Amino acid sequence: MKIFITRIIPDRGLDLVKEHFPTCDIWSAEMPPAREELLQHVRGMDGLLCLLTEKIDAELMDAAGSQLKVISSMSVGMDHIDVAAATARGIPVGNTPGVLTDATADMAIALLFASARRVVEGEKYVRSGNWKTWNPKLLLGADFVGATLGIVGFGRIGQAVAKRAQGFDMRVIYHDPSAQSAYGAQAVDLNILLRESDFVSIHVPLTEKTRHLVNADFLAKMKLNSILVNTSRGGVVDQVALYDVLKSKKIFAAALDVTDPEPLPTDNPLFELENCLIVPHLGSASQHTRDMMSLLAAENLIAGLNGERLPNCVNPEVYD
Ligand code: DGY
Repeated sequence: MKIFITRIIPDRGLDLVKEHFPTCDIWSAEMPPAREELLQHVRGMDGLLCLLTEKIDAELMDAAGSQLKVISSMSVGMDHIDVAAATARGIPVGNTPGVLTDATADMAIALLFASARRVVEGEKYVRSGNWKTWNPKLLLGADFVGATLGIVGFGRIGQAVAKRAQGFDMRVIYHDPSAQSAYGAQAVDLNILLRESDFVSIHVPLTEKTRHLVNADFLAKMKLNSILVNTSRGGVVDQVALYDVLKSKKIFAAALDVTDPEPLPTDNPLFELENCLIVPHLGSASQHTRDMMSLLAAENLIAGLNGERLPNCVNPEVYD
């Protein structure tokens, strides 16, 4: 069997793949393969294990050839893969749900707290030698107890955020027509959520429907002095509109774990703003979580190559 793995993944998963298929082809550079390199490397492969940095579309599947048996992504998000094109070719696609729920929810809370309590601004202030004395009006932020947290997208991660917010005595509301209530969160219409939330945390997948969901209109409906947190996908936020509301201080701050594109070029205007905190897509970046993601991705790959049903398949209709 010929296998291409588009980057060195954590040992937990890599060792398992090698145990079953010792001769897999692994892209070992720090940067992902460029498009042309990827198209060349997939040629003749039976299995592909990729990351969210690779665009896996119909062209790539055709370049691989009709023997391609499985596409396994070490991610839960699927916006980099044309799943419909894979289904049309009978190729099962695997992802890694569940294992990154807690780590990503933790990051959403970390970003929410960091921007509400101005942790990064404070750290820069100290390092730059500006800290002269305790000052009763220095870097004042927002409180959590009694504040309202609005969660947009109430799937696994959104619910895990709600669970954490309970511990801070926050009122939690959510908008997600397809979800049931959990952790005392109350379902509301999106307009109500934006009008009432002191914090808005985004947890929707990126689809054609959710692209730029957080646009000028959405942001204009947010409360004055509220905070936006995005740990889903950068494309969900219209960054030009976000810049405008942050610059004019219509909302207090934004904290982004994800941007569009990634990495965000350093001349992007968002970097000029003290009230915009940006980290490099670290939602799932804990050792254990990444180990588990690599393991799930390896299990999907191996199952697909052995002609078995993938343990975590996003297009089970291929088996019908
Ligand atoms: C995913 O798996 O989709 C996450 O964004 C990785 O952190």
